[in-house]
Amino acid sequence: MKILAIESSCDDTAAAVVEDGREVLSSVIASQVPEHILYGGVVPEIASRRHCESISSVVKKALDDADLSIEDIDAVACTYAPGLIGALLVGVNFAKGLSYCTGKPLIPVHHLRGHIASNYITDKELKPPFLALVVSGGHTHIINVKSYTDYEVIGRTRDDAAGEAMDKAARTMGLPYPGGLNMDMVATDGDPYSYKFPSPKVQDAELDFSFSGLKTAVINLVHNLTQKGEEIDVKNIGASFMYCVVNCLCDRTERAINKIHPERLVLAGGVSANSVLRREMKKLAEKYDIELYMPELKYCGDNAAMVGSQAYYEYQDNKIATLKLNATAALDIDKNTKI
Ligand code: KG4
Ligand code: ZN
Repeated sequence: MKILAIESSCDDTAAAVVEDGREVLSSVIASQVPEHILYGGVVPEIASRRHCESISSVVKKALDDADLSIEDIDAVACTYAPGLIGALLVGVNFAKGLSYCTGKPLIPVHHLRGHIASNYITDKELKPPFLALVVSGGHTHIINVKSYTDYEVIGRTRDDAAGEAMDKAARTMGLPYPGGLNMDMVATDGDPYSYKFPSPKVQDAELDFSFSGLKTAVINLVHNLTQKGEEIDVKNIGASFMYCVVNCLCDRTERAINKIHPERLVLAGGVSANSVLRREMKKLAEKYDIELYMPELKYCGDNAAMVGSQAYYEYQDNKIATLKLNATAALDIDKNTKI
């Protein structure tokens, strides 16, 4: 089954053709990063406009690269939640239009389910059940993935997502957007023990995260140094901050492993590209002798191939939408919208 998938939840306009959930026949991404860099972060109104401008050509290129025409496609899929509402609407409406004029089924995909599915593309043998740590710019979740479409969130952030905290800390240190990625590049060989940051825990919720205090600590440190006219040691502050975020992520994941006793551990979301997180997750998996799955770097960030992969399993589960499908800015991964 060949699925044409569309992703437009944030600042990437993406389209892909994926066969049977596992084989990527094409994957096209039009990134808006160069424009959002000017503002230090994503400007939602600009993101929506750029999606409108590029979606037709991105979808056409995905079909061309796969050497297919729309008649060869069996279904159309799109990310419908969660994300920037104006951005999501562009992909959802384009997909609805394609579904209407071709008569092909329309499959709605939750963005985080898509991130998890990026691992089905990278590792063709991976099947649920498994424990997943999903870390992106907007979400930080520990999820018990029971089947391809059945999820139980067992840990989540109470405030900022890990990626959001990294982006804001990086911006304060003068690094360009996307901060997490740039911090990773600048701080790789910094000393992670040179600065001490708090490692907050959430009372009575041992699997939950809290990153806002940590983010504020680094912002205060940078402001203090600036006021004193001292140099900002981006490499070492970045390394210490990143190490602290990764420690929190690994600590909660370890607790979840001890609770669920999974055979497989899966990492997903934009922050799964982080070099320190990948290294420390490997150590954790080795310690508990469980198999670790991480997406190939090109599928860590937002892309439509992951949406096409998950769509295949949503289709098997009869999750086919009518043309009443709407975009939703906030929706838990374990919920289904009225389709
Ligand atoms: O999944 P994603 O592409 O978009 C959302 O769904 O949010 O994640 C974007 C996040 C941003 O916060 C970005 O800074 C972060 O992923 N990110 C990284 C790295 N690459 C991207 N964070 C840390 N290290 C990286 N190498
Ligand atoms: Zn994402």
